[in-house]
Amino acid sequence: MNPELKITQDGSHTLYVPEIDEHYHSHFGALTESKHIFINAGLASLEASAVSVLEVGFGTGLNALLSAIHAEENKIRVSYTSLEKYPLDPSLVRQLNYGPLAGSRGPQLFEAIHAASWGEQNAITEWFSLTKILSDLTVEDPAGLYDIIFFDAFGPDKQPEMWTEDVMRRIEAATHAGSVFVTYSAKGSLKRMLRALSFDVTLLPGPPGKRVMTRAVKR
Ligand SMILES: C[S@@+](CC[C@H](N)C(=O)[O-])C[C@H]1O[C@@H](n2cnc3c(N)ncnc32)[C@H](O)[C@@H]1O
Repeated sequence: MNPELKITQDGSHTLYVPEIDEHYHSHFGALTESKHIFINAGLASLEASAVSVLEVGFGTGLNALLSAIHAEENKIRVSYTSLEKYPLDPSLVRQLNYGPLAGSRGPQLFEAIHAASWGEQNAITEWFSLTKILSDLTVEDPAGLYDIIFFDAFGPDKQPEMWTEDVMRRIEAATHAGSVFVTYSAKGSLKRMLRALSFDVTLLPGPPGKRVMTRAVKR
């Protein structure tokens, strides 16, 4: 894949993938969308002082960056595991403006997140550790159990193989009672699959340009 750099409406970058005619984030605002779905409706909704996160789709590292900042600001220990099938070229990552836009700690954290080695745990800060795993979720089960899942695959219309019962079963196997699942999609088929896998599904107001998003909790 050969993604191209684009600017979204809040001034933050995203990437466009011509091969599948799909963006990594909402064109209404990548940073705004990521904060809304994965931080505010996700990480910030948990009360524990130590949290394990499984992200599907490391991509630009934007969700990891915002999570690292949230962990530091709130003094929560976050152990963050992220799966990726197609790691980005570092020369493209260096052009992304997330570091400066994320505040004074942003540039240093963004660099450390991308410099982190794959396949092992990296202590990025006192509060945030990161394990980036090269993996294809359509064929491989994630190892471990997680308190929260950030499901950030390409859209169901562009990458339907990521939104199947098979993949959702792999995700469910990585959760425990009380684990939270958040994603930007609110497609009916996703809600049905999650309910069949014993998740209580709630629709929450979405970020700009999106009426609703999905938040589900494992029974
Ligand atoms: C919508 S993008 C979002 C990425 C990231 N969360 C971000 O904010 O930049 C989807 C990501 O899923 C990755 N992906 C696609 N197929 C995958 C697969 N089978 N297994 C794991 N990751 C995959 C893509 O390479 C891409 O990085």
